[in-house]
Amino acid sequence: MSGDIETLERQVLTEIEGAADLQALEAVRIAALGKKGRITQLMKRLGGLPPEERKSFGQAVNTLKRRVGEAIEARKSALAEAALAARLAQETADITLPVRPGPLAEGRIHPLSQIWDEVTEIFADMGFSVAEGPDIESDELNFTKLNIPPEHPARQDMDTFYFKPRADGSRLLLRTHTSPVQIRTMQAQEPPIRIIAPGRVYRCDSDQTHTPMFHQVEGLVIDEETHLGHLKWCLEEFCKAFFEVDEVKMRFRASHFPFTEPSMEVDIAYARRGNEIRIGEGEDWLEILGSGMVHPNVLAGVGLDPERYQGFAFGMGLDRIAMLKYGMPDLRAFFAGDVRWLRHYGFAPLEQPTLAGGLSR
Ligand code: PHE
Repeated sequence: MSGDIETLERQVLTEIEGAADLQALEAVRIAALGKKGRITQLMKRLGGLPPEERKSFGQAVNTLKRRVGEAIEARKSALAEAALAARLAQETADITLPVRPGPLAEGRIHPLSQIWDEVTEIFADMGFSVAEGPDIESDELNFTKLNIPPEHPARQDMDTFYFKPRADGSRLLLRTHTSPVQIRTMQAQEPPIRIIAPGRVYRCDSDQTHTPMFHQVEGLVIDEETHLGHLKWCLEEFCKAFFEVDEVKMRFRASHFPFTEPSMEVDIAYARRGNEIRIGEGEDWLEILGSGMVHPNVLAGVGLDPERYQGFAFGMGLDRIAMLKYGMPDLRAFFAGDVRWLRHYGFAPLEQPTLAGGLSR
């Protein structure tokens, strides 16, 4: 009888040693100590034994149970340790390697997006809100409502991209300026109006300072006592904030736009000092925007009484002022998608331009 127990012990211990993982070990445990396990079965023989053998048999089976239980526990922790060691070996990290820069350090914000945010920040601070219009626009809103009737020469000057005429003869186009957003805004809301509208515009033109798609920001203020002085002040304050200088030499030149009267183009002074461009001083002038008092015909066209309401509007070239502020000589590079250019001229992500924290850091 005790020989049986010894044999069984040897067998079970061998099985425990041989269990390759926790699952196999559990199977061995059930086969030995489970309800129908071999060791459990042994206990059932107890009743059939003569009384003088019962005690020693019972003790032997209990010892066997304890040893097997201990062996299982030991094997369990050995397996767990081995699993941990394997994982550690596989997941080693060489902490002497240099830190790889993540997307926040590598990625760059395009200078144009930066300028867009800077301009929005400055005008928002003056109480302007942002309005939008579609890139694909109607002839009516891009021209007619802006006091540019069908036979007007300005339509030729604009180098417009037209779509094929529709059944009724009307043609959609790619907007040539952001000025149609003036009309959309005045049609949608009552004065007082104070909006800017940054966006893409299109003209069939391409050289170092022109691309077929470029960016403008439109400005529109309509109220009952708005005058030219407000326009000048607003643009001067904008330029000082944008170029981050205390004084900016500006020139307001009489000009002509069908949708403003009087109209002015605005130049700002700049000087080349070797490789550096200084803004707001010097002898050279760069045109950055067109502006003027909104033409009475435009006001009347959207149902506003020109006797009661006046206002000013301006349209500024975003790419132009970006080139000037950040010294980027070729506009075409803006849209070439060259990462080296972006790495050089781009801005760190998550560094939002704010007037408090500095526009460009
Ligand atoms: N829309 C004009 C342009 O693209 C600029 C402008 C806007 C002029 C508003 C006056 C008033 O050239």
